[in-house]
Amino acid sequence: MRHRHRFGAAVTAALLAAACGDDHDHDPPPPPGDVSPCAPGDGACVFRHDTFGDEQLWTDVLGLHQLVSDLPPTAALGVGLKVDADAVPPDVLAGADLADPATTVALIALDAVVGVRGQVVDGRVARIGITCALCHSTVDDAVAPGIGHRRDGWPNRDLDPGAIIALTPGLPTLATQLGVDAATARAALTSWGPGRYDARFNQDRESHPVLIPPAYGLRDVALETYTGEGPVSYWNAYVAVTQMGGHGDFKDERLGLDIQQHPDRVTPVLPALRDYQLAIDAPPPPAGSFDVDAAARGAVVFSGACARCHAGPRFTDAPTLHAPAETGMSPDEARRSATKAYRTTPLRGLWQRAPYFHDGSAATLADVVTHYDQALGLALTPAQRSDLEQYLRSL
Ligand code: HEC
Ligand code: HEC
Repeated sequence: MRHRHRFGAAVTAALLAAACGDDHDHDPPPPPGDVSPCAPGDGACVFRHDTFGDEQLWTDVLGLHQLVSDLPPTAALGVGLKVDADAVPPDVLAGADLADPATTVALIALDAVVGVRGQVVDGRVARIGITCALCHSTVDDAVAPGIGHRRDGWPNRDLDPGAIIALTPGLPTLATQLGVDAATARAALTSWGPGRYDARFNQDRESHPVLIPPAYGLRDVALETYTGEGPVSYWNAYVAVTQMGGHGDFKDERLGLDIQQHPDRVTPVLPALRDYQLAIDAPPPPAGSFDVDAAARGAVVFSGACARCHAGPRFTDAPTLHAPAETGMSPDEARRSATKAYRTTPLRGLWQRAPYFHDGSAATLADVVTHYDQALGLALTPAQRSDLEQYLRSL
């Protein structure tokens, strides 16, 4: 394993140092189950099932396999994990005891827990890793709440990643690697709440979680992330290596990061992973979920007040970025970013994903309209506000 890193405090770097210690060429073969089950060109498989070797974080450092082996399905569903009903024979699902941790282990053995991939040995989870689908897929609840058919690209706003990490037995080890005490790390992680994650916490130890965004509707959107850090594959590599703990390379001089791990399991699958994400359309609004006439009137308000930034079929002017003050946003997240600004969020599928804005500061679309009415000094009438809200529901 050969690696270089200039950002010594980053958890990935610390992790690698702990796992390796020195620079040498021979890499021990990964444990058998840690290899990808996907053909490199199968982007859907990579999105759903590839851990990129991040068992080195979730098993070897955090001990998530121990936590999960003793977790009843009710508790797993309670922190927002989802079950892919199509991976479980119907009779098994019907007879499953959701209070028994053995059911959780059986679901993992079937690869039926969305975004989680593990290997079971003697009735316990022996290795475990996470995939992109953990945060960016959910299910349609067709069988029961949290159990149904996969919906790739939909943000999992029930998932509480901070709470899950805080529950792992390896949290003190992670905290030590970050240079904070365990109580400080636990307090930050448990403050985030469902649907939120801070993808910079392990870089700067600040805690300003953002909403997990959708991975749908991104075709022809020039820049990804709330702060427009780079295109899809830039973010995919960042998250796979520095957040998921995957075994691969990531370099960004703006962030002082240069991580190399051989073999690189991330870079070769990025093109297929990108193509899969770009093929996921935003879900259309359910029939009858908005007032068609009001939405038509609201479109006129929108083109006057909003379309200069939310422009074109994707409703964004990216790659143009905006200073926080232009839209009355908190500067906290922009300040920590490489760009210091916010990208205009594409708006398709809004109906699906309350709350809104990167920090979730608007609970509803009505709150979004109220925010802009004040921040941009629009002086909209109550009728215009309500029409605009109906239009946003229609996207
Ligand atoms: C722990 C949860 C988590 C995991 C796992 C995760 N992401 Fe994300 N993802 C986020 C968060 C949070 C953001 C927002 C980051 C930001 O804007 O600063 C994000 C942003 C994105 C975006 C940008 C969306 C937009 O509108 O700009 C895409 C695309 C994306 N992720 C895809 C992926 C892929 C592909 C993977 C697997 C390689 C992945 N994510 C793994 C939480 C996660
Ligand atoms: C000056 C450019 C600009 C204007 C004008 C503007 N927006 Fe935005 N919009 C943005 C930016 C930048 C963001 C991302 C802000 C964030 O998440 O913090 C955003 C985010 C949003 C979101 C949040 C989407 C999500 O999924 O979180 C909605 C909804 C929205 N805008 C609607 C509107 C409406 C309605 C108007 C007109 C009243 C409007 N915008 C005017 C730039 C603009």
